[in-house]
Amino acid sequence: MKLIFDKSMNGRTGFRIPELDVPKENIDKKYLRKELPNLPETYELEVIRHYDELEKLNHSVDKGFYPLGSCTMKYNPVLNEEIANWENFKFIHPYQEEETVQGNLQIMYELQNYLGELTGMDAVTLQPAAGAHGELTGMLIIKKYLETNGFKNKTKVIVPDSAHGTNPASAKMAGFEIVEVKSNINGTVDIEELKKIMTEDIAAIMLTNPNTLGIFEKDILEISKIAKSNNTLLYYDGANLNAIMGKVRPGDMGFDVVHLNLHKTLSTPHGMGGPGSGTVGVKEFLKDYLPKPIVEKSKEDKYFINYNIKHSIGRVRSFYGNFLVYLKAYIYILSMGSDGLKRASELAVLNANYMKKKMSEYMNMSHEGICKHEFVIDGSFLKEYGVKTLDIAKRLMDFDIHPPTVYFPLIVKEAMMIEPTETESKERLDIVIENFKTIVEEAKTNPDIIKKAPHNTKISRLNELKANKELNIKY
Ligand SMILES: Cc1ncc(COP(=O)(O)O)c(C=O)c1O
Repeated sequence: MKLIFDKSMNGRTGFRIPELDVPKENIDKKYLRKELPNLPETYELEVIRHYDELEKLNHSVDKGFYPLGSCTMKYNPVLNEEIANWENFKFIHPYQEEETVQGNLQIMYELQNYLGELTGMDAVTLQPAAGAHGELTGMLIIKKYLETNGFKNKTKVIVPDSAHGTNPASAKMAGFEIVEVKSNINGTVDIEELKKIMTEDIAAIMLTNPNTLGIFEKDILEISKIAKSNNTLLYYDGANLNAIMGKVRPGDMGFDVVHLNLHKTLSTPHGMGGPGSGTVGVKEFLKDYLPKPIVEKSKEDKYFINYNIKHSIGRVRSFYGNFLVYLKAYIYILSMGSDGLKRASELAVLNANYMKKKMSEYMNMSHEGICKHEFVIDGSFLKEYGVKTLDIAKRLMDFDIHPPTVYFPLIVKEAMMIEPTETESKERLDIVIENFKTIVEEAKTNPDIIKKAPHNTKISRLNELKANKELNIKY
């Protein structure tokens, strides 16, 4: 495919700039470009066709199966996008007077409450722009709370070896030292190990439940007891809440702080660095440490933005965060209702277990038994054929399937993590199960076809090292 620059022809334009209707300003020469920018010149229709062609090359949930474990790439209803595009929302300015944005503030206020209810937390900030940002916010809250209350000796945070890499990174950024706790053969936190490393200087334990192996930490109440008896706080990484929402709440499991990835659980587009939302909820005793401002409601039923938070860790985001992302989560919650949210979790878990069971007939699973919304394949069973997990991931593209998460979690050899999500039908799952089966057969009979995959994509297999070291994406 040609680049848009290659399609450019001197003097072609797709638009006309209106006549100047304001006085002309003479800008100081030092601020002017020396040369004209190298912009492509072409017709509007060609631009549309070009971007349409590019879009078709891209894989998305709307186009095909996207089992990116841990990342939850589920279908996001178009209705959410439609409403987020309404002018009343899109053109609101953060400097507008409070009285003129009461509706928007109401949405934020109610969303805070819904999320508090869903997680069992007493207060919620919507501000953080992504999951990892929420983690940092949560850890800063814990840090400030401990310092303010005479626990300056608490300098360490326990993180399981199955955790997402952002967990230790966030705790470290907040100024804590990391202590790793090993998982047992069932893939959950080893309680005996935990007891051994639970010293007085432990500030918090960060847990994902279900964890990144897709397994529910069934000993969570005991872990909570161990933590509480040591004045250690429990932090919940809510990236996997979509497996349990409406069923159990982290607040009832003993967690003190939680972050949610709205883009995973509540169907806003995937956030990563943003614009996303990694909202943070806390128990009552941590309420005064939340970042400011927070949306509140007065006795006169007026919504207002409160900057007056006693021990606030300060701002973590400009203005109030990514409002349109909140709006999408809010619409999703309202359109699903509490029963719908619960059903979404049930279907996510059902779909994952259906796939896991069928695929265990020809693939090795990292852990046996019932999983939550995702499961991990141990791809090392194909080693004898010289086939790696990476090769399988590449071959899946030929079947119009986005590669799953690979080589994570780190504790599983040749890991391949599958999360079908609740939005896939049984018919689609059956097709994908068959596709995986075909690839495993190929690995045994014709491994070359896998090792050289993908064959049907626009660009075939890249030299990964070269692509990383000599990345050249500018024209
Ligand atoms: C378990 C877990 N925790 C935290 C994160 C970080 O979330 P984000 O990508 O929004 O920063 C992720 C994201 O992939 C995750 O899977």
